[in-house]
Amino acid sequence: MDVSVADAPALSGTVGTDVVVVGSGIAGLSVAYELASHGRSVVVLDRGGIGSGMTARTTAHLATALDDGYDALVRVRGHDCARHYYQSVATAIDRAEAIQRIEHIDCDFQRVDGYWVLAPETPASELDQELDCCRKLIIPIENCVEPTPFHAKGQMRSLRFPRQARVHPTKYLAGLASALERRGAKLYADTCVESIHEHHGDTVVTTASGHEVHAADVVVATNSPVNVQVAIHTKQAPYRTYALAAKIAAGALEDALYWDTLDPYHYVRLQPFSADEDIVIIGGEDHKSGEANDGAQRLDALERWARERLPDLREVTHRWSGQVLEPIDFTGFIGRSPDEEHVFIVSGDSGQGITNGLVAGLLVTDLITIGASPWEEVYAPARKIHKNIGELINENITPLKNFAEYLAASEIASVERLRPGEGRLVRSGLKKIAACRDRNGHLHLHSASCTHLGCVVHWNSLEQCWDCPCHGSQFAPDGTALNGPAVSPLGEADKPANLEAAE
Ligand SMILES: Cc1cc2nc3c(=O)[nH]c(=O)nc-3n(C[C@H](O)[C@H](O)[C@H](O)COP(=O)(O)OP(=O)(O)OC[C@H]3O[C@@H](n4cnc5c(N)ncnc54)[C@H](O)[C@@H]3O)c2cc1C
Ligand code: FES
Repeated sequence: MDVSVADAPALSGTVGTDVVVVGSGIAGLSVAYELASHGRSVVVLDRGGIGSGMTARTTAHLATALDDGYDALVRVRGHDCARHYYQSVATAIDRAEAIQRIEHIDCDFQRVDGYWVLAPETPASELDQELDCCRKLIIPIENCVEPTPFHAKGQMRSLRFPRQARVHPTKYLAGLASALERRGAKLYADTCVESIHEHHGDTVVTTASGHEVHAADVVVATNSPVNVQVAIHTKQAPYRTYALAAKIAAGALEDALYWDTLDPYHYVRLQPFSADEDIVIIGGEDHKSGEANDGAQRLDALERWARERLPDLREVTHRWSGQVLEPIDFTGFIGRSPDEEHVFIVSGDSGQGITNGLVAGLLVTDLITIGASPWEEVYAPARKIHKNIGELINENITPLKNFAEYLAASEIASVERLRPGEGRLVRSGLKKIAACRDRNGHLHLHSASCTHLGCVVHWNSLEQCWDCPCHGSQFAPDGTALNGPAVSPLGEADKPANLEAAE
């Protein structure tokens, strides 16, 4: 997806500023906007186009409902954490509503209800527990017994979360980018940050072209932090999620957010399109990144699921996928980067990364301008994960399983057999080679070793990229790093002569 919400040059020299924000998605631009509004000089750097990351792929539900459930959050992190979490997301959505009004951003922002719909596979007690928990936390919620289109036949139970919202994400980002420029902030695209160092009160950001930005504070809003090697990446796991957009007659579906209780869950919302037609955006079919290469089939399954429930759905106009990072203990990582004084990070978005990014705008700005935030502990990046979370064990098995792959046999006998759009792993002695032929027919051979911590990457035929199952790095067919935590491209590899000979 080649997107840019605003024109911006590449950085071409060394500059100084109060704050440098790395990453121009919802998190980066929200933080940049709040800091610029506090009178700070701000430089934003992005390795691609402005707003070209996961925010351009989102379905943009703005929710106070927590996708793992408040009941789970309370059990693991306690009532205070859950209360502060709710305050943070409710305040952040209010703030987005205010910003689009103040800045006159035409971004289809709309307050809507959110329905958490009971699926037949889930016991009703799950809704009872969430209802009870939210009521104790004084979170607005209502028990509903009216069926929605997303209920199975004969079922009608759901929980309604009032005052959720939807927004057009790239229109909102474009508005933020314009507002930033009006406040004197400088935005640079095609500027990949390679390193960030604190040195005697000065923080230096160095780009791949060797330019530097000197700043008092740095905010790393690269979705997956590129400045932290391990500390955060063992506390979150990358999942690929799928979405499609299809037309429907205007008014045929209530303008609301819908999620079901399945795991992985389906998520649906409406996007107004024209006087006659709306667009329904449907998401789901998630799996751990790099552990499946059947994106087209998953999108077909998503479409079938939607058509069974909305028989009047018209043609599908778009199909795509993206990645979310699931924090093991249910809240993102926003705040001071572990062991750093003036470097801040935003990550752990899960399916709520838009709201998470809006929270970051407020939280990081408070930390930089007044040194504290009421929500600091909820999102503290350095927090320890409670040992009673069984999932932690499962998530950390991925790197172990992955390293065993170095010993596995080749997936294809000869790289010459690769068809356009196809990618396979090839063994060459003790090394694994990531071999793919792009859609133009060019053969690319790279080391299959992820440049973050060395896990074996896996081909993703839907998105035509290599996905790393360990911590979510992604690489283009030509080896370029597309998504962190890796920054460097995949290493070059020679054509495996032994395999050619075997043909
Ligand atoms: C299909 C899908 C549906 C989703 N639905 C929802 C939803 O309904 N609600 C919700 O809240 N969330 C949802 N999410 C999650 C949400 O979209 C993301 O979590 C969110 O957009 C992440 O924003 P971000 O600013 O952290 O990252 P991004 O938007 O990815 O921005 C990070 C930026 O950093 C840049 N960057 C990376 N590395 C470097 C570097 N080394 N140097 C310079 N720049 C760099 C990238 O180019 C990128 O532009 C969904 C995600 C997907 C994929
Ligand atoms: S993302 Fe960490 S090893 Fe690949």
